[in-house]
Amino acid sequence: MTAGESRDWAAATYDESAGYVSRFGEDVVELLDPRPGEKVLDLGCGTGDLTRGISSRGARVTGVDASPRMISRAAEKYPDLRFEVCDARRLNGFSGFDAVFSNAVLHWVREARQVISAVYSSLNPGGRFVAELGGRGNVRSIERELEEALAERRISTSGRNPWYFPSLSEYAGLLEEGGFEVNYATLFDRPTPIGDEGIERWLEVFAGSFLDGLPGDTRREVVESVAAKVRPELLTAEGWVADYRRLRVRAVRR
Ligand code: BEZ
Repeated sequence: MTAGESRDWAAATYDESAGYVSRFGEDVVELLDPRPGEKVLDLGCGTGDLTRGISSRGARVTGVDASPRMISRAAEKYPDLRFEVCDARRLNGFSGFDAVFSNAVLHWVREARQVISAVYSSLNPGGRFVAELGGRGNVRSIERELEEALAERRISTSGRNPWYFPSLSEYAGLLEEGGFEVNYATLFDRPTPIGDEGIERWLEVFAGSFLDGLPGDTRREVVESVAAKVRPELLTAEGWVADYRRLRVRAVRR
């Protein structure tokens, strides 16, 4: 679930705290509809659960992720599959794929044009790109409160927000400019239960770069302040449910 920057992930923690990411991704595998014998690249494969799902349908799949720890955990879990450390902006050496698949990772890479160009080069003509990422408005309440909590403490937010949540038209436009024909695109709300450990854990796992370098007590204060502010909206009778919005696309390399 890391595609293009240096933040490495505690892979076991990720599996424990964010296993729901792969479970939701099963719908995206349905959209990919992998066929036996197809050569598929799983871009930002994390610890490999969806790579395994694609492989179980008979495709020849390679999983890549920018995080060495994710890749070593994926290789441990699924020793029969091929995994490699690779940055989504530079898929050098990966070519001849029938499809590129990506779930819940491209919102970590702000350089969308570079990613799209790398995906284009890795595909055969007529190959498809099937991806889901956070779309415009994703985790809006959390993002707003993080930025506010930092600003209230006179901490610059510049360079801290790692997320890229494009609108449907923006992303479809980038794909078209990049040589793709978009044949499916949708942006939808997907309220997401974030597990028993709640929003504070979520912030530590997913919003770490907003908190990087802060003294321990300030870090705690920011996390507690954000948790208190979003609680009325996100803490439901079923537990913590974050305001996710997904952008899902399927595009074909012209
Ligand atoms: C997401 O999957 O939409 C997401 C996860 C973590 C941070 C931001 C967005």
